[in-house]
Amino acid sequence: MFGTKEHLRVEGSHLFIEDVDTVALAGEFGTPLYVTSESRLRHNIRAYHQAFPEADKYFAVKANGNLATLRILAQEGAGADVFSGGELALARLAGIPREKILFNGNSKSSRELEMAVEAGVRVSVDSPEELSVLGELASWMGKKVEVLFRVNPDVSVKTHPKIATGLRSSKFGIPAPSVAGVFRKALELEGVEPVGLHCHIGSQILDVSSFVEAASRMMDLAGEVLKVGGSIKMIDLGGGLGIQYDPAIKAPVPADLASAVLPVLAGRCGVMGISPRLILEPGRSIVGDTTILLTTVNVVKSAHVTFVGIDAGFNVLARPMLYDSYHHIVVANRAAQAPEAPFTVVGPICETGDVLARDRMLPSVHRGDVLAFFDAGAYGFSMASQYNGQPRPAEVLVHGSQAEVTRRAEDYSALLAGQAVPPRLLW
Ligand code: LLP
Repeated sequence: MFGTKEHLRVEGSHLFIEDVDTVALAGEFGTPLYVTSESRLRHNIRAYHQAFPEADKYFAVKANGNLATLRILAQEGAGADVFSGGELALARLAGIPREKILFNGNSKSSRELEMAVEAGVRVSVDSPEELSVLGELASWMGKKVEVLFRVNPDVSVKTHPKIATGLRSSKFGIPAPSVAGVFRKALELEGVEPVGLHCHIGSQILDVSSFVEAASRMMDLAGEVLKVGGSIKMIDLGGGLGIQYDPAIKAPVPADLASAVLPVLAGRCGVMGISPRLILEPGRSIVGDTTILLTTVNVVKSAHVTFVGIDAGFNVLARPMLYDSYHHIVVANRAAQAPEAPFTVVGPICETGDVLARDRMLPSVHRGDVLAFFDAGAYGFSMASQYNGQPRPAEVLVHGSQAEVTRRAEDYSALLAGQAVPPRLLW
């Protein structure tokens, strides 16, 4: 019914996720509501294990910081790419072992570097200055930190410009021509042990040839590192594999990525006589399609277009507003009905840009209907805010016919959290 999304189906006239009726979920837990399929999550990480049996998969925690999700991924043997002290804490709490954690970031604070050293995780160093600071800090703390170097490989990819990260103009990484020099410098520092190279060229990439280009640049650089006396124990190719948001567009799967990239790496490593461990950092392709966002229609208004006002805007799902991204919509309580007319679906936020879908063909929509947004598991809740005084929604995990709350909805007290009015203002 929904292509490869085997965890979603229509029964009677309702949308089901695994064996749970989404309309009943909306009734029981209220909306907006993020709902995740455990079986799909396990399926997605296993697809990576199958395609890359030898590689480590470090889940990109920024895509989804839900502890139950992280726990399931830990059970499935995943590691973590963390981009802040907070994400490091989440990964450790979920039980991800420190040897499988890479601390990334282009602007890490001293406190975060200290946390990384203290936790004993590897660090991806983004600049020569960070290398010196980290080296000093680690030797002062009497530790030695294994480091990779984040490379800016200057690879252009076809994706939204805001999520292309490997362009020469992007803020991430050390420019490719300087990498070997920085690596050599690291060999002289007491507190660090340089072990490899890291890149991440962007997100929602649908053409695997970009990854081949990146892999080949990384191998060129590995060659330069060997020449300056370094050794390459790890090559981290980052994340970025796209998913099928729009049913009209095809997306590659981990097996496609593997068959494109692995022969290139094997060939080049063979010639150089090295056998580094491969690391991947998938986020979206692990969690994206596991989760739907349920929302309720508050109002339908005929204007120059027909607006459908729902109870979630870019405060809950920021992606359409930020990247003009497509999320497929199904009217969950009328899921078997054919589309009839175009609707422009908007949120409750006081901004003209708060549009989740423009001129989307849907069955006739009415107040009280439940709209399900597909593929909301990556960068959905994790980018949600309380803008306009909107508490953040709940998250539910579905396992067969079971539905459990993994994060309860905030109430208005969350808007006051941490606030203090100076006493002199009280009178
Ligand atoms: N590794 C690094 C260093 C990253 O910066 C990212 C994502 C990933 C891994 C995971 O990439 P993925 O497999 O999820 O494509 N908020 C945007 C996406 C931002 C991605 C940032 N970096 C969106 O909603 O499309």
